[in-house]
Amino acid sequence: MLQTVDPRTRQAEAFRMDVWAGLARRRKALPSRWLYDDRGCELFEAITRLEEYYPTRTETAILQMHGAEIAAFCGEDAVLLEYGAGAALKTEILLDALDAPRLYVPIDIAGNFLKQTAARIRQRFQRLQIRPLAADFTADFEIPSGVPLTPRVAFFPGSTIGNLNEAETLAFLSRMRAHVGPQGKAMIGVDLKKDIPTLVAAYDDKKRVTAAFNLNLLARVNRELRGTFMLDQYAHEARWNDAESAVEMHLVSLQCQRVTVDGRSFAFAAGETIHTESSRKYSPDGFSGLAQHGGWRIRAMWTDPQRRFGVFGMCAA
Ligand code: AVI
Repeated sequence: MLQTVDPRTRQAEAFRMDVWAGLARRRKALPSRWLYDDRGCELFEAITRLEEYYPTRTETAILQMHGAEIAAFCGEDAVLLEYGAGAALKTEILLDALDAPRLYVPIDIAGNFLKQTAARIRQRFQRLQIRPLAADFTADFEIPSGVPLTPRVAFFPGSTIGNLNEAETLAFLSRMRAHVGPQGKAMIGVDLKKDIPTLVAAYDDKKRVTAAFNLNLLARVNRELRGTFMLDQYAHEARWNDAESAVEMHLVSLQCQRVTVDGRSFAFAAGETIHTESSRKYSPDGFSGLAQHGGWRIRAMWTDPQRRFGVFGMCAA
């Protein structure tokens, strides 16, 4: 008989494997996607409203300021595919600006969240067709055949692309290109390189919300994997990695200590860290080069007066 595995069991197993493998590495690291349990999502929402965290409000202002040009770029009748749609707050601004969009396809791994988002967008844009798609945008998946092929526009806001490494970014750009087809377009939000104090402060705010977001990962290990992390024995650190052009988040062990996670034991030296996230920052040329490598042609970069953030308009052909 065919055995079906509950997706929550599969997710718990994947979490355990990632934590065991990540803590056994010489340089301890955990994949950043585990930062986003319910509490992590709440804390991330709070981060987007912080004074130091400029990307969200800057990108929102760019979409508002350049709405007419962006609408002209996307064209009439667009089929909008949004990757990692989440709460899709910026999508409303884009949908407001677009000329009679035909269909909206929010894509997100969190199926329940996706339903709520689709319901909210349906309320506001009553003539728009909406077709939510539960999928992990970091892995290969198909766009359902009923979604019209032209003109498809992929939308990936939030500078989430900065959380992918170079290989993942190229794989993602090629996947997105295959999804929109040869006539397709894309709009991607990218955080731009700037002075290091501004970059680091965005990930180390005075209210310590980002610290709570980072430390919640250890709390999650304790909750879900019978972990024994003493949260007051780890400190949040944001640091600039010049070679990677990224702000990194780490959790620093404040003393020599041992923890167990689902029965396995791991040793920490004082000062040793767990790397929990990288946020890559690009120059306009650097991102354009990468996008071209992934098969795209850059048509525009909309930005703010301080050039803090770029929304890139790109064509597949
Ligand atoms: C989701 N992502 C684009 C955020 C970023 O800026 O890299 C996640 C984040 N981590 C700490 N603050 C914000």
